[in-house]
Amino acid sequence: MSATLITNIGELTTNVGVDGDPGAALHDAAVLIDDGRIAWVGPSSDPSMWRVAPLSSANQGRTRHVDGLEVVDADGGAVIPGFVDSHSHIVFGGDRAGEFEARMAGEKYAAGGIRSTVAATRDASDDKLRTRLRGFVDEMRAQGTTTVEIKSGYGLDVATEARLVRLAAEVTPEVTFLGAHVVPAEYAGRGDEYVDLVVGEMLDACAPHAKWIDVFCEAGAFTAAQSRRVLEAGIARGLQARVHASQLGPGEGVRLAIELGAASVDHGTYLTDEDVAALAASDTVLTVLPGVEFSTRHPYPDARRLIDAGVTVAIACDTNPGSSFTSSMPFCIALAVREMGMTTAEAVRAATAGGAAALRRDDIGVIAPGKRADLVLLDAPTAVHLAYRPGVPLVKQVWKDGVAVR
Ligand code: NIG
Ligand code: FE
Repeated sequence: MSATLITNIGELTTNVGVDGDPGAALHDAAVLIDDGRIAWVGPSSDPSMWRVAPLSSANQGRTRHVDGLEVVDADGGAVIPGFVDSHSHIVFGGDRAGEFEARMAGEKYAAGGIRSTVAATRDASDDKLRTRLRGFVDEMRAQGTTTVEIKSGYGLDVATEARLVRLAAEVTPEVTFLGAHVVPAEYAGRGDEYVDLVVGEMLDACAPHAKWIDVFCEAGAFTAAQSRRVLEAGIARGLQARVHASQLGPGEGVRLAIELGAASVDHGTYLTDEDVAALAASDTVLTVLPGVEFSTRHPYPDARRLIDAGVTVAIACDTNPGSSFTSSMPFCIALAVREMGMTTAEAVRAATAGGAAALRRDDIGVIAPGKRADLVLLDAPTAVHLAYRPGVPLVKQVWKDGVAVR
């Protein structure tokens, strides 16, 4: 694989920082990519870049080749780590646009809507689900996402859940078994029996294809006791835990997630002071999902309160047909800044290094020698523009493992 040098970067967010300040960006910087990894980060003017002819005005903003090295002139644009979207549900059939319309007219969001997507997903062929899934991955990549976690959870029978984790594993190593998304219609009133199925035959079929076990611990989905059974069974099978909790109201899910060593607890729309203190004292990340509050009209959680308490915060899209049908990390960053009290630098960090922490990955989410070369070049001079220019397609170029994928 040939090496690539990105020069003339107006603002480089590394998530490593400068002189002990982890939030500080570099200016007039360059990044050398070699064999899919970051090889070097430094000033554009560094004399060690002897192989690169000086920029002439004719070359500005262009890609050149110098002695086998591809040289990309960022033309003063900002470069950030690729987004790590640590929460999505993108293997499903159908959509629920009608439900969204009704919500905008005043209906409430309810967990039970999941069941209509289950029916459409069971009916869809592998080919249909795969084509759709790959379309979502492409859509995400075009918006700067270089790593995505994908959950099952719209099958809710052994055969369909196994299909969903297998399809997800075709496109990401970050696969989550979410058989405990909601109790399916055929088990109505028999939640404990459904949990028996999830921790038994369904887990047997899905665990070989998954890294993570997840549960929706919420009124209308699974109780804390049921959630504990699901998570402990997954952990016993070698899966790592992550939890949906406190989305629709306060509950016990956050404390359960921490007790079981979950990498992340997601949503956290209704957190108690005890939840926040417990998160701050733990290694569990709190992943906020601003697209959900946008689409369900629930109040946005206060990320400022979390960060000030010392909680590690991640931002993810939660792309799904019910509660949040956006795949745009820039849009979620803009919402987190506008509605959750984050600075743009905090939001970009949460959408990159925060997502990596939520997936317990130390090879992504930062731009530093030895890390995977997952980067995004923006058509903007600073990352602030991600929130300042909401809805504008600012992603100009994307590298995944050193390869330009856009
Ligand atoms: O993360 N909270 C549970 N699951 C999804 C919603 C799924 C749906 O409504 O289809 C979520 O918001
Ligand atoms: Fe979710």
